[in-house]
Amino acid sequence: MSTNVANFNAGPAGLPRPALVQAAEELVDFESTGISIMEHSHRGKAYERVHNEAIELFRSLLGVPDSHEVLFLQGGASGMFALLPMNFLSDGGSADYVVTGTWSEKALEEASLIGTTKVAGNGANADGKFTRIPSQAELTLDPGAKYLHITSNNTIAGTQYRTFPKPPSANIPLVADMSSDILSKPIDVSKFGLIYAGAQKNLGPSGVTVVIASKDWIVQGSKRIPKIFRFATHAANNSLYHTPPTFGIYLMRNVLRWVRDQGGAAQMAKRNEDKAQALYAAIDGSHGFYTCPVEKDARSLMNVVFRLPSEDLEKNFAKEAEASGLIGLKGHRSVGGMRASIYNAVGRAEVDRLTSFMAEFQKQNS
Ligand SMILES: Cc1ncc(COP(=O)(O)O)c(C=O)c1O
Repeated sequence: MSTNVANFNAGPAGLPRPALVQAAEELVDFESTGISIMEHSHRGKAYERVHNEAIELFRSLLGVPDSHEVLFLQGGASGMFALLPMNFLSDGGSADYVVTGTWSEKALEEASLIGTTKVAGNGANADGKFTRIPSQAELTLDPGAKYLHITSNNTIAGTQYRTFPKPPSANIPLVADMSSDILSKPIDVSKFGLIYAGAQKNLGPSGVTVVIASKDWIVQGSKRIPKIFRFATHAANNSLYHTPPTFGIYLMRNVLRWVRDQGGAAQMAKRNEDKAQALYAAIDGSHGFYTCPVEKDARSLMNVVFRLPSEDLEKNFAKEAEASGLIGLKGHRSVGGMRASIYNAVGRAEVDRLTSFMAEFQKQNS
């Protein structure tokens, strides 16, 4: 096994080593119960403690107010693309979507199958590339919308909101797909009607989907859809309406403990700003060898995208980087280029290895 790997995968992504080590140590015998946590009933005491600890940790780390539920579901963020409009659009009305990348396009597409949608804003530049985040003033917001949907961090495009848009009135819920930046910084949860995120970037393994939702809002969801698809069903049952992804939730609990031990969301934000700053400085300081296509005020602190002077050089870069243990640097197949995903679990040391490699690669190839 190689222990010299720096993991820049976009998701599933690197997890904090202590969270994995703990899982390895107790994999076959959880807390001296003689069986794995995977083998415990989801209604039993051992699992119940893990489940509730994960919910409590999540609430405290993100400062989730009593007005909001924390749910652990299945189906990934893509499942939520569908569940959201099923709950809030299937009985009529229209929803606003700000399109800032592939994932918001997909969210919009699913909602359009269920009900009426409007594009409230777009993050594409003149060439149709998603390089920016539209400002509040650029948005065309429907005062009668059922909700306003955004993607807080665009994993493929490498853009991220600095400030979240405000719906045109207080009774229009703001909904955010936070799959790729949840818990990377403190946020004011009370500003959102609903937040959802697949766990596999900042929180844990794939298979768990976290939803934070206004209690008052989700009870208004459609009653004409199957119970399993209603947020209210899962809220009424503490995410135990059916068998939840127990092992994924257990591993997420370990990750959440690690975040707590590091100093919480505020400390994550500091680390993330520091890492991103170092990486963008390396790009900007390369005299044009490396370029970042994203507008400066929209640059993501989670997914740093960059290009090299030619596609051949990009291929070599990825190959040589991998040979030196720096993995996951190829950009998404739809956009090409390079992408370094530097989620919570990636440390400054790994980013420093990458910037050193970049400097050396530039020297050898210019
Ligand atoms: C912002 C965002 N939304 C949605 C998705 C899709 O997530 P899932 O595979 O969990 O459905 C991703 C996956 O990378 C993502 O980055």
